[in-house]
Amino acid sequence: MSLRSGRTVVTGGCGFIGAHLCAHLVQRGEDIVVVDDLSVGSPGNLEALDVAAVDVQTVDIRDVESLTRLLRKSRPEKVIHLAAVHFIPLHVHPYYRERYALQPRDYPNAWGAYERIVSLPIYAKMTDDDVRHVIDAVREIAREAAR
Ligand SMILES: NC(=O)c1ccc[n+]([C@@H]2O[C@H](COP(=O)([O-])OP(=O)(O)OC[C@H]3O[C@@H](n4cnc5c(N)ncnc54)[C@H](O)[C@@H]3O)[C@@H](O)[C@H]2O)c1
Repeated sequence: MSLRSGRTVVTGGCGFIGAHLCAHLVQRGEDIVVVDDLSVGSPGNLEALDVAAVDVQTVDIRDVESLTRLLRKSRPEKVIHLAAVHFIPLHVHPYYRERYALQPRDYPNAWGAYERIVSLPIYAKMTDDDVRHVIDAVREIAREAAR
């Protein structure tokens, strides 16, 4: 698939939130380039939302060289970053928890993984205080883990 000039780069655009966001952007007439390593998401998520014309680039965002090359070539005005690992076990989401009266430890493997994973909030409007709060929380977690 060729890399055309893109107005908006969406990392993780083949994922759950990314695919919905892409559909919204395309509906608004925006030119978008999706960057996704397809580790979790799939271009099929975009087809289902009728945005099959989207330029999907299979790149791992941790591959700095490839990502830099792609950004230089596509020259986006905006980059929306959604490529991340997001994991909350299904059975603790309110719908399933309440409907089936599930307890966290009903699925010990999923719960065990969830307890060992940390998602850090990163967004453009974070204040310095927000950032300090996250740093303090990470330090606290590291201290706890070291005990
Ligand atoms: N789904 C939610 O309820 C929810 C709620 C709050 C915040 N978020 C955040 O929104 C973001 C996206 O969540 P989602 O639910 O769409 O997750 P998702 O797993 O469905 O989508 C993430 C996408 O990123 C891609 N990806 C992962 N690692 C990558 C990498 N190294 N390089 C390139 N692509 C990579 C995956 O293939 C996938 O398509 C995450 O940061 C998540 O923490 C999600």
